[in-house]
Order: sequence, then C-alpha cells, then structure tokens
Amino acid sequence: MEAQDVKSNLILILDYGSQYTHLITRRIRSLSVFSLCISGTAPLKSITDLNPSVIILSGGPHSVHEPHAPSFPDGFIEYVESKGVFVLGICYGLQLIVQRLGGEVRVGEKQEYGRMEIEVVRDCGLFGYRGIGDREVVWMSHGDEAVRLPDGFEVVARSQQGAVAAVENRARRFYGLQYHPEVTHSPQGMETLQYFLFDVCGVTAGWKMEDVLDEEIKVIKGMVGPEDHVICALSGGVDSTVAATLVHKAIGERLHCVFVDNGLLRYKERERVMKTFERDLHLPVTCVDATEQFLSNLKGVVDPEVKRKIIGKEFISIFDAFAQDLEHKLGKRPGYLVQGTLYPDVIESCPPPGSGRSHSHTIKSHHNVGGLPKDMKLKLIEPLKLLFKDEVRELGRILEVPVAFLKRHPFPGPGLAVRVLGDVTEGNALEILRQVDEIFIQSIKDAGIYDSIWQAFAVFLPIKSVGVQGDQRTHSHVVALRAVTSQDGMTADWYNFEHKFLDDVARKICNSVRGVNRVVQDITSKPPSTIEWE
Ligand code: XMP
Repeated sequence: MEAQDVKSNLILILDYGSQYTHLITRRIRSLSVFSLCISGTAPLKSITDLNPSVIILSGGPHSVHEPHAPSFPDGFIEYVESKGVFVLGICYGLQLIVQRLGGEVRVGEKQEYGRMEIEVVRDCGLFGYRGIGDREVVWMSHGDEAVRLPDGFEVVARSQQGAVAAVENRARRFYGLQYHPEVTHSPQGMETLQYFLFDVCGVTAGWKMEDVLDEEIKVIKGMVGPEDHVICALSGGVDSTVAATLVHKAIGERLHCVFVDNGLLRYKERERVMKTFERDLHLPVTCVDATEQFLSNLKGVVDPEVKRKIIGKEFISIFDAFAQDLEHKLGKRPGYLVQGTLYPDVIESCPPPGSGRSHSHTIKSHHNVGGLPKDMKLKLIEPLKLLFKDEVRELGRILEVPVAFLKRHPFPGPGLAVRVLGDVTEGNALEILRQVDEIFIQSIKDAGIYDSIWQAFAVFLPIKSVGVQGDQRTHSHVVALRAVTSQDGMTADWYNFEHKFLDDVARKICNSVRGVNRVVQDITSKPPSTIEWE
C-alpha cells in the first residue's frame, strides 16, 4: 500500500474525556490502520485538515444535558455528510449524535455499569450481519440513555433492560454503540471494530512501521536543510535512542548526540550506556559530566514540581552550551534538538475536554512537551510524537537497535530525583537508592521476569524507622519497591511477585545496603496513583 493510501485511511478519534479513548486509538492501530486522537472540541478546521475517512466520537464522563457539555463543532454534520465520512459514536459519542441530530437523551433512568448482555435485534454491519451471533456480553458504563432516535435511525441492539445498545443510520453513515467495544471486558468488541472499519466503512489495512520510518525520514530531510546541524540528548532510554538512530539515518553525521550525567543516574548507568552507544549503535556521543551543576541547584529543594523545572532548565542550558561548542567547531550553530516525545506524553499533557482547563495547562511538567522553556533557541524534532511505546520498540527493531536495549524499562527524564522523595542531596540518599535499585533490578533479571514487568524501580522515602540489626537498635531509612505491568504507561497494575522473591530481595537489601532497615512494596495501580512517586 502506498503512503498516500495510508493517509486517506485515517481514523480520527474525537476525545470527550473517556479513560478509554487512547485504547480506541491503540486497538485500531493494532489492526494496521492509522488512527489519531484529538480533542472532541477541536475546531472544524483541525478535523477537515486531517481529512479522515472515519471519525469516532469517544465516550466521556459528561451528560449531553450539562450547560457546557463538550461537543463537535458547528458544521461538523454538514462536513461529514458532504465528504461521505463514516461516524461511530461510542457511549457519550452515541448520545451526542442522537441529541445533535434531533433525538432525545434522557438522564439516568436505566443506569448500566459493568458487564452486560445485549441482544442484536436487527441485521447490521456493525455485528457482521449477525456474524457474531444474536447475543453478546459487553462493557457498559453510562447513566444517560437514548430514548428517541433521530429520524432515519434504527435500533440494532438492546440491553437486557431494554435500553438502546447500538444504532445505525446506514444511508447517512452514522453508527453508535452505547457500550465500550475497545475494552477487553467486551470480548467481541474487537470484532465489532473490525466489522465496522473494514466491512461497513471499507477501510483497507496497511499502516506499518516501515512506512512510518520512511515518512519520518522524509519529514526530517524536508525540515532540516542540507547544511543544518542537529543535536540530540540521549538519556540511555529506548525513546531517545530510537529517535537518534532514526535522525542519524536521515541526516548522517550532521547529528551530534550528547549524554548528560546529571548525577541522578542509576548504578553505573553512565559507563553502561556509553558503551552501548559506541559499541552497538555506532552513534557519535559526547558525554558531559554535569553532576555538580545539577546537584548544587537541587540542594534543599523538596517540591517535586520545582525539582523537575530546575532539572529541565539545567538540561536546556547544557544543550545550549553544547550547541555553542559545536558552533565553534563547525562554524555554524546547530538549529534543532531531537526529543523522544511519545504519543502518551502528548495525550497526558492535554487536559480532557470539558475539564475547563486550556490545552496549554501543564498536567505533567516532566513530559517533554510540557517541560521545555518557551524561549528555547533550538527548534524541536520529535519523530516519535505519534507513537506508543510498543510501536517505538517495533521501529527500533527495524532500525536494528539491539533488542536488549529496546526491552529496557522506561526511566524518567528527571532520573532518581523523582525517586528520592524530598531533598535529593541530603545525606547519601542517592547512593542508597542506587544500590537498592541495582539489587532489585538484578534480582528481577536473575529471576527471568524482567520482560514480564513494564517498569520496576526503588524509591527512597524521606523517613527513618526503628529496627534491630546485629543486636543493635537502628534508626535507618525505608525504601519502597515498585513494579508494574502496563501496555503504555497510561494505566498500570502492580506486579505480583512471588513471596520468596520478595523475601530474598528485602533480605539482600537490608544486609548489603548500609542505612536501610526496612523495605516496603507499593501495591497501588494507576489510577489512582501514578507509576513514579513524585
Ligand atoms: P507516571 O508516574 O506519570 O509515569 O504514571 C508514566 C511513565 O512516565 C515516566 N516518567 C515520569 N513519571 N515523573 C513521573 O512521575 C517524571 O518526571 C517522569 N518522567 C518520565 C515514568 O517513568 C513512566 O514510564
């Protein structure tokens, strides 16, 4: 399939704030169809510019009766109908279609939450014309319900309670599902999405990472002039490494990489990472030791947001200095900075529609998109901005980045600073954390479970507790161990270690790390907590 076809097959998701919206995007991409997600209240031009062939209106926590309920822009219906764009509303999305086209949505008579059976009452392409049978278990989560459909719409499935579960208006190309086909609790949901995309809308699958690679290389070549130079800060993680390898492929030796030792790295990280860059990736990398600069600026700082801001600022000042050095050498100042920003970073940095917050509001200042100063002189290149982590790994495989490297757990940009709660420079917090982390991670590797865990790390807590070690009372530090499973870091579950594993690790830590007498495990999922502690 030509790149052109891939673009003309874009599935656009309009986000109305459901916690599952990004899942819809991922599910569709897993069918080799390109899908993007933008705010459900985006102006019409943002939609028409993307020229989608299908638009999916997501679910959301709102009621269409709220005074400022988020909705698609004026002119939307006229646009989709004139272009023949197919529209699928999911949950809130269905209610929006019903209400805006003249039907009626009533507030919460038959509230339905959780697993539920629906019955298909009419042949419809959404269910493969009964290809998935007459009954199906689905995941419902709604208070309002559609009680009168707009003219020309038909009910195609109902819940056990008789509520509308699926609708269609074949002639006008509008479809709706009251439940969430994108979650695994709707076992046949993927089939419905496939029926909808391929049979109803006639979309062709063909989006693949090789195309993304070619496309990105083209974009970078177009953006960076033949004489321009680019710098890239490598963190030693998957994202920046893949981004650098990609840019290197596009512009060769005009890419200059820098690895900053900010004093917040893990045990022997600098040596290990530099070796991989040189030996396996053949990337030209300059290592800058900025430990002093970072730690002296972080002295006494306990507020995590302030820590991140300081770290972000120091990074930028180092990149600027690096660019200046290069200017002396090359006689030309590099004009671009490569960042390994991922799609979840972009999504998480945009507040949900209807939240009353504007898009510039920073939810997560640690994410690259939110953390850079406005007056930065370098222009950004973010080749992974539309990809999820597993897609970046796939891209890395195509770029022949060593597999061991691609499988590394993610590591936050501000490093151990967000894993030492409180002042990172106090006592030997960083040293203790490095040792504890190394024991934990090495034990995970030895147990052969590293690849089953999405991210594992230790946290240094700013408290001391009483213990007995060698017949002596101690007053020492507490460390926490965190390990999670996840698809993309946006939601996560804690990893269930075997009792013996935890017992061995805790023993090893207390016996070999001076200053620690207590080890606890973090057993929360995300949400309600996050993965990192700060
Ligand atoms: P959270 O903790 O936000 O992490 O659920 C999601 C992913 O982002 C990575 N990450 C950070 N997390 N502070 C964080 O709390 C940071 O500064 C940061 N930087 C990156 C995190 O490691 C996880 O992979």
